[in-house]
Amino acid sequence: MIELDFNNILYTVLGPGHSISEPELIKAITENASICQEVQDEREKGKHSFLDLPYQNVSKIISLANKKAELPLTGRASKKMSRQGWENFVVLGIGGSALGTITLQQALKPPFYNLLSARERKGFPRLFVLDNIDSSEFQALFKLINPQKTLFNVVSKSGETTETIASLLIVLKILKKHLGKKYHQNLIVTTDRDKGFLRKLVNKEGLLSFETPKNIEGRYAVLSPVGLVPAAFLGINIKKLLNGASVLDKYIQGVPVDKNPAYISALINFIYDRKKGKNIMVVMPYSSQLKAFAEWLRQLYPESLGKRYDLNNNEVNVGPTVLNALGVTDQHSQIQLYNEGPNNKLIVFIEIENSKDKIVIPGLFRNDESTSFLAGHSLQELMLAEKKGTEYSLIQNRRPNYTIRLKNISEETIGALLYFWELTTAYAGKLYKVNPYNQPGVETGKHATFGLMGRKGFSAGGGPASGWEKEITNTLTKNKRWVIGF
Ligand code: PA5
Repeated sequence: MIELDFNNILYTVLGPGHSISEPELIKAITENASICQEVQDEREKGKHSFLDLPYQNVSKIISLANKKAELPLTGRASKKMSRQGWENFVVLGIGGSALGTITLQQALKPPFYNLLSARERKGFPRLFVLDNIDSSEFQALFKLINPQKTLFNVVSKSGETTETIASLLIVLKILKKHLGKKYHQNLIVTTDRDKGFLRKLVNKEGLLSFETPKNIEGRYAVLSPVGLVPAAFLGINIKKLLNGASVLDKYIQGVPVDKNPAYISALINFIYDRKKGKNIMVVMPYSSQLKAFAEWLRQLYPESLGKRYDLNNNEVNVGPTVLNALGVTDQHSQIQLYNEGPNNKLIVFIEIENSKDKIVIPGLFRNDESTSFLAGHSLQELMLAEKKGTEYSLIQNRRPNYTIRLKNISEETIGALLYFWELTTAYAGKLYKVNPYNQPGVETGKHATFGLMGRKGFSAGGGPASGWEKEITNTLTKNKRWVIGF
């Protein structure tokens, strides 16, 4: 289903300086092997809970997604509705509550999905994800959609994320205006079972809800109701998605550590970052369908591993930077830097072996040498040739890289790919000796915002965290000499 080709990091391919020799790699694999068992043992004690998501019961999600909505619409409006009744599905969420959904939609639904007619979408709704608080997006969206025909899914594990709640308040006002008390038919809440403002709202208003699993941070939650509810509403086969993840899980349980691709990948990424001066990992899929996947990974890996303190409370300030790139597009942008700029990057390619649509390039100008060579080749062939060409040029410039090869893009391979990187991140947490499941570095900015927006307890003179406003104003005092405008 998926194979990883690590050849282009080897000494025999890259020569000295920026490579890892086979003996060095084998030694590292043996020396760190215990982390795989550690993760497994801790999993059995309830840690790394995301690893058990492939085995969850999803029948409630599937039956809800297959149910025809009972909407207060009549006449032509109701006849034109999609099979579920919804024309649009709008996710309100941010970070881990949004990126997984965008990844699934982009990978598993046709390109330009929202521009297709309802029939071309097979009756499934369009998807919009509001993962920013940019008023221009809100205004544009509400010009595009009819709130009555739209199902909103507010997703927040904490149930209190400022941006998500602000979006919800705006949406609630609009929904209540259009639907009155029946507004709850157009809203699904995905949040913690017990805690937070959203859970209180669900209980008070009797809203339909799903639970975000305990002990699973947003960025590891794509295979939970966080990503599965929107996916099911779009007609993505979520059982197959989970099945793909479980195939990888079972494979790993049955092989020795030196055949565990997630472990080897975590180890190689770690060695390059910590021992070979390559603290930037570029994730470069050769598929537009995986563009959002690279953005999802850009959150997962750095937010999990970028830490000030290690597990023993030593100040370490570690963590790889992940850059997302896109093949072939970025061959005409970033590749110049990757080939000739500082040799401080590890490039991770993602390649698709079989793409469903094979468009053949026509031979229109047979006597013109600059174009006739393209005739009869498929776009997929050209893409793979360009990927090979890039790989070759990187090797010539002694730039380490490896390839993750997917047989195709399907629910199974995407489920496996997401699970693969989540597990890789858990192993990497062990190697960096940090907690990959927290994000203390985002707190200061959040609290400062509360202070500026006047939240009780966070404003000047307003409780335990008083003085924020003054503190922020002092810190951000500007020396006008260095504010230069025209
Ligand atoms: O991965 C994470 O934990 C974060 O990116 C969260 O998903 C993000 O901050 C949103 O949090 P919440 O789901 O609580 O609204």
